[in-house]
Amino acid sequence: MGKGRTIFACQGCGFRSTRWLGRCPDCGEWNSLVEERIEGEPPSRRAPAGDRARDAQPITELAPATEMRRSSGIDELDRVLGGGVVPGSVVLIGGDPGIGKSTLVLQALAALAAAGPVLYVSGEESPQQVKMRADRLGVAAPGLLVLAETSLAAIIEQARALNPIVLAVDSIQTVSTEELGSAPGSISQVRESAGQLVQVAKRSELACFLIGHVTKEGLFAGPRVLEHMVDTVLYFEGDRGHSFRVLRTVKNRFGSTNEIGVFEMKEDGLHAVANPSALFLSERPIDVPGSVVVASIEGTRPILVELQALVSPTALGTPRRTTLGLDHNRVALLVAILEKKMGLQLAGHDIFVNVAGGVRLDEPATDLGAIVAVASSFLDRAVDPRTLIVGEVGLAGEVRAIGQTETRVREAAKLGFRRCVVPESSRRQLPAIAGVEVVGVQSLQGAWDLLF
Ligand code: TYD
Ligand code: MG
Repeated sequence: MGKGRTIFACQGCGFRSTRWLGRCPDCGEWNSLVEERIEGEPPSRRAPAGDRARDAQPITELAPATEMRRSSGIDELDRVLGGGVVPGSVVLIGGDPGIGKSTLVLQALAALAAAGPVLYVSGEESPQQVKMRADRLGVAAPGLLVLAETSLAAIIEQARALNPIVLAVDSIQTVSTEELGSAPGSISQVRESAGQLVQVAKRSELACFLIGHVTKEGLFAGPRVLEHMVDTVLYFEGDRGHSFRVLRTVKNRFGSTNEIGVFEMKEDGLHAVANPSALFLSERPIDVPGSVVVASIEGTRPILVELQALVSPTALGTPRRTTLGLDHNRVALLVAILEKKMGLQLAGHDIFVNVAGGVRLDEPATDLGAIVAVASSFLDRAVDPRTLIVGEVGLAGEVRAIGQTETRVREAAKLGFRRCVVPESSRRQLPAIAGVEVVGVQSLQGAWDLLF
């Protein structure tokens, strides 16, 4: 196919041009024109397989979908997928280079190979390198077929010929089609390749894993541009300095989002962590100011993690506010509440807040814990290590109710915590839980009187 059949479209406003322009003349955005293919079936005719009935039907008369799932053999991966791999679904696994995406997929494929042939396409490594990795992981299976290929047409042809139950493409950024003139890895190549693979997956009930590196630019040509095309988006996160890895669901048409899977990277690959709370708390310092344990609900389960704060006099004119694992603005707001309501003079201090273990929290239920951690470090007064602190904090210093308090308290009880500080309104609805004393607080002042 000739290159003349492509067009350059602005990703911001949809402006189209026959040649590339540095700046969109319509919306004025720089570098937003991307090459796109225009021939082929019009989008309205590209109905996914299984859409035989063209007429609208009452929802009550539709046959329930019979959803089949295959286990990947890795509990934590099955969990984030919503219970296993769905045939015909396309799963995008994104993450920084070196985080363990190839390792995870190879381990999963080896288990899936028990049910039928699976095809692992590597655009980055030779079959020998893949073999070396598989040997190291101890996962060689005869049904696991390896192909080193970057041409989209060749990959699709092999997938048709071998008819595997699962296809994994590692990584989607290495795949390209000659139908487009742009370089492999460019936004148009990545999108076109993924688009065609999605079509193949839907038509032949083939489950497809696409691996995508988060590029330096983050957004462009990275996994982000594919999120809307695929059924499930998983991000693999973690600190490369740590052995913990967190697999997070960002989008899932076949299950809940915000589910996380926790892994530990070891010599022989990724190991699922069945009890993340115990792992995250295992290295916690005891009786040290600035350390507080909070409970966050991640998907369907509670996870206890340690928040650490360090408050120290600033050496510079402007004090620093650094947060890792928590929203920066949220922490700034909590610090302001602490200053205003409790009269702490924090203006001359640097404040660092960190979530231990490289986890990211975005639940307001961690507010009270974060405030107490900062105050604890500032006052140099340690919080009892067997106390859990949860609650959302409002601008007036009030402690607001949170969801699923009971689940959090039970998890803490399981791990040997003796006392849970929770919002008073949440406490009233709690049944008695053996082994823990539950204390309700209505305001920051209440928590203060209790803890310091
Ligand atoms: P990899 O799966 O290649 O990452 P990605 O595909 O996301 O780029 O994993 C890379 C890192 O994992 C590498 O630095 C080595 C480490 N690793 C282990 O620690 N143990 C193992 O068994 C394997 C296979 C890799
Ligand atoms: Mg890789």
